[in-house]
Amino acid sequence: MAAEGDKLWGGRFVGSIDPIMEMFNSSVSYDQRMWSADVRGSQAYVKALEKAGLVSKSEMEQIVTGLDQIHEEWSLGTFVLTKADEDIHTANERRLKELIGEPAGKLHTGRSRNDQVVTDMRLWLRDSCSVLSLHLTRLIRTMVDRAAIEVDILFPGYTHMQRAQPIRWSHWILSHAVALCRDADRLGEIKKRINVLPLGSGAIAGNPLGIDRELLRKELKFDSVSLNSMDATSERDFIAEFLFWASLCMTHLSKMSEDLIIYSTKEFSFVTLSDSYSTGSSLMPQKKNPDSLELIRSKAGRVFGRCSGFLMTLKGLPSTYNKDLQEDKEAMFDVYDTTCAVLQVASGVISTLQINKEAMEKALSPDMLATDIAYYLVRKGMPFRQAHGVSGKVVQLAETKGITLNKLSLEDLKSISPLFASDVSKLWNYTNSVEQYTAAGGTAKSSVVAQVEQIRNWMKNHKDH
Ligand code: ARG
Repeated sequence: MAAEGDKLWGGRFVGSIDPIMEMFNSSVSYDQRMWSADVRGSQAYVKALEKAGLVSKSEMEQIVTGLDQIHEEWSLGTFVLTKADEDIHTANERRLKELIGEPAGKLHTGRSRNDQVVTDMRLWLRDSCSVLSLHLTRLIRTMVDRAAIEVDILFPGYTHMQRAQPIRWSHWILSHAVALCRDADRLGEIKKRINVLPLGSGAIAGNPLGIDRELLRKELKFDSVSLNSMDATSERDFIAEFLFWASLCMTHLSKMSEDLIIYSTKEFSFVTLSDSYSTGSSLMPQKKNPDSLELIRSKAGRVFGRCSGFLMTLKGLPSTYNKDLQEDKEAMFDVYDTTCAVLQVASGVISTLQINKEAMEKALSPDMLATDIAYYLVRKGMPFRQAHGVSGKVVQLAETKGITLNKLSLEDLKSISPLFASDVSKLWNYTNSVEQYTAAGGTAKSSVVAQVEQIRNWMKNHKDH
């Protein structure tokens, strides 16, 4: 049982902490991931202390060197935590004292773990968002490259999971890629709000010792300095935004996975997942399961849980720092790890997926051209509402005769509307069908190629933040 006096905050305590409480209170098992941010934050802080005349140049140098060594120990994996190390901040400061002695006690002057922890988190998340951005851009590139190559492949487009209209396979790929482009843009936008310096806010009231926060901002490469110390030490909007960002991105990936799971069934057989991203059944030898896609779909639930769980933690808190906020870190780390893995697996799945062109094209059926009949009549001058009704009658006639639409004779069609002529035979062609949709965003080849180009341009301008 550690005596309270041993703790960095132990001055006013006489008793010792219950071991269960000690474990309950400790965050070092997970917040040690921020060791580098914590060291960098302290190195910047001691420079500000020196500028304010609170440590001498030599003390500053000793502290910076000691912190360099701590950084080295963490990166080599030789840093040894003690039982009393409550979190990464106390662990690093304890080690600094062991390494350089007394001057270590000056590092925390005017600083609180309240402004320290949130500075560490912002630094950590800023770097981590860059990694996510990289994985996301890679996935988008994989999808766009595939869409460019496979632009001539047609297959059924579904609404309500019913065959709707023929579309290009690439149109489907890009429908998911554009959602991911929005995610990448959104990540860039939240990064601006992550990149705000809270250090120098102290515990609640600010810094009383003339710390130059602009120096801290420059040292730590933040875009701006937080405006209000009470807000800065307790607001976790940037975490909530990150968790929501990931939730939305996971929704997109879950939707894409669900489509692919359906397309990979024997019933559809549009796609075959690479063995590298599937597993077999321990019981049924014939099975190849789309585990990668199922796991992506499931991880969306996990991420939403983290997001809503943390919002629940925030709800009802009074202002300023409360220990409840310690819960922010596991949510942040878990969501980061999950999203990072999902993006990489998704890239692997998409780049190795095999498509079955024949099955895709075979799944197209003349009934999917009913809309085209209406458009044919519209082009001949009939109002759309009327054309829709006429097309419905054509469908009904084919059904009564037990044949497909394209097997109806010209006479059959003329009996419904005199506007039908011999050029109607051009309708029974799926390529002609998709080629109608030339307006921007449509499924005509020109339009799909334009989408590919637009996303490629977007990628050129999009920095991996
Ligand atoms: N481990 C704490 C956290 O993650 C650090 C801040 C502690 N502040 C305090 N006043 N006890 O939130």
